[in-house]
Amino acid sequence: MSSLPTLQALKKRGEKIAMLTCYDASFAFMMESAQVDVLLVGDMLGVVLQGSTGTQNVTMQDMLYHTRCVTAGSKSLLIIADMPYASDASPDLALRNAEQLIAAGAHMIKLEGNKPDIVRHLVANNIAVCGHLGFTPQSITSTGAYPVQGTDEASAQQILDDALALQQAGISLLVLSMMPAAVAGIITMNLNIPTIGIGAGKDCDGQVLVLYDMLGISPGKLTKYSRNFLIGEDCIQNAVVAYVAAVKSGAFPDIEHSF
Ligand code: KIV
Repeated sequence: MSSLPTLQALKKRGEKIAMLTCYDASFAFMMESAQVDVLLVGDMLGVVLQGSTGTQNVTMQDMLYHTRCVTAGSKSLLIIADMPYASDASPDLALRNAEQLIAAGAHMIKLEGNKPDIVRHLVANNIAVCGHLGFTPQSITSTGAYPVQGTDEASAQQILDDALALQQAGISLLVLSMMPAAVAGIITMNLNIPTIGIGAGKDCDGQVLVLYDMLGISPGKLTKYSRNFLIGEDCIQNAVVAYVAAVKSGAFPDIEHSF
């Protein structure tokens, strides 16, 4: 069973959190038995399931459908659903959409960028919120180069300031994406809530990868921060078990997968 208090306890004990994206019931069921801690119904499904070049065309209907699918397969894991592009454009719109994702089975929603007013409104209405800073896919219209963020002092400081503002607004978890490991490490040290890195180095409290990337089946070249965990394993379930073990032991990510 995973829950927000479980993740807080893992951070306190210095034990790593293993998160993966998930889009359907079969994978959710398998990830539960592989002891993944958290499932993210991420809107990168626009790229890996729908073949789009980005995430901006993903709709609330898409997110509700996949959230229901994942919920049907997992009875005990914490499930986070992404708020798709523009679904959080105002506090009231965000609340209506977040409530639908929760009704579909998500325990928490994730939104991109520094939006403390939206977070405050959601939290005041009992919606648990995960933030997402650094590289935010909804801010680009096409994939290709995913630019590393926070590479100079001013932009690194801005991400730290945004993280503190989001924590103050009430987020319970924060995804840090595509930034120098040192920057993510400092942010993690300065927050009480757990951080989950993707391309953000080993010092985050946990890691997340896009499922299709870590199985080596995403279209295009594997991004630097990802690793194909199917290599050396004889089935998908063992690749997921290997991912969980590598995150928990701190073996992943290493220098090769960090900035
Ligand atoms: O949509 C997604 O899969 C995400 C991850 C890249 C963290 O937001």
